[in-house]
Amino acid sequence: MATWSAPGRVNLIGEHVDYVGGPVLPFAIDRRTEVAIERRTDSRIVVRSTELEPAELPPEARPGEVDGWERYVAGAIWAFTQATGHRPTGLDIDITSTLPTGAGLSSSAAIECGVLGTLGDIMGTSLTAREIAMLALRAEREFVGVPCGPMDQLAVMLGELDHALLLDSRTLDTEQVPLRLAAAGLTVLVIDTRVRHAVADGAYADRRAACAEATTALGVEWLADATLQQVIGLTDPLLRRRAHHVVSEIQRVRDVVAVLRADHPEDIGAFLTASHRSLADDYDVSCPELDTAVDAALAAGALGARMTGAGFGGSAIALCRLGEVAAVRDRVRRAFDGSGWATPDVWPATPAAGARRSAR
Ligand code: GLA
Repeated sequence: MATWSAPGRVNLIGEHVDYVGGPVLPFAIDRRTEVAIERRTDSRIVVRSTELEPAELPPEARPGEVDGWERYVAGAIWAFTQATGHRPTGLDIDITSTLPTGAGLSSSAAIECGVLGTLGDIMGTSLTAREIAMLALRAEREFVGVPCGPMDQLAVMLGELDHALLLDSRTLDTEQVPLRLAAAGLTVLVIDTRVRHAVADGAYADRRAACAEATTALGVEWLADATLQQVIGLTDPLLRRRAHHVVSEIQRVRDVVAVLRADHPEDIGAFLTASHRSLADDYDVSCPELDTAVDAALAAGALGARMTGAGFGGSAIALCRLGEVAAVRDRVRRAFDGSGWATPDVWPATPAAGARRSAR
């Protein structure tokens, strides 16, 4: 038997810029997905998880042939075969998780990375952390069909305790940036609105298409290369707003990295809140539940708050002093009371280690 543990991620800042060549700053979190694989005596591939119905994967499943949550597992197996030529069969795959699914916290990347790491061990093919991330990305893009950037998979694989991962999405160069929250008396609260999004639906692809159009209109290689002045000159108002989010967000990532390198995490709050406003007003990827969560957290004294991940639901994050956690949580919950919305799930996230072998 082989087992791996893969974390989810929170994106601290740098939202919707990993497919236009921009820098992003996610961190792996201490909610994780455990994958255990055992050989079977027959050739079936059976996937089990505590919360979902067991599923049997068709042999050598190809893109488009598997639906439901098990497509992340099938996608990982498919990508493994594409890269190594090995065709795994006869497997019992057991998945347990403390990571909510569909909450914008990369539960799918955690499954894909966890399955790939475990498969490598069971098949005797050792893969590096980066190789696993790239195969998981391939599974997500080519098998599941989400045209995502590289942020989630690299955050899941390369996270480090008390650090955020600065990823240049163009070169895929990475750097660890200190994120010593507890030492500064701070925490990042995750506010899971419990609005479930389907990133695979059109809105994400639509934002990518708008960025591609703006890139062409500006005559730059990557939208990340555009200046604010160039963007302001765009004649199409919608493209101007989309591109404005991108260039302003990239500057905020740089500012946050500088503040964190100076070890002043308490000073990043305003950048987080500005990021949310830009995502809501220029990029149109927020929703009433996320806006309510952010506004309530700020009203209760959070230093900064924003949606995290693709948006359209999922989770927000709020940077809080440790002494204000209860006040922020209560205020957010009260803001949702009487709205007819589900009560949000609010919990602190700690910057944690990336995916690794684990003992069961
Ligand atoms: C999803 C994608 C990422 C990234 C974010 C938005 O999580 O998987 O690649 O584009 O949305 O920042």
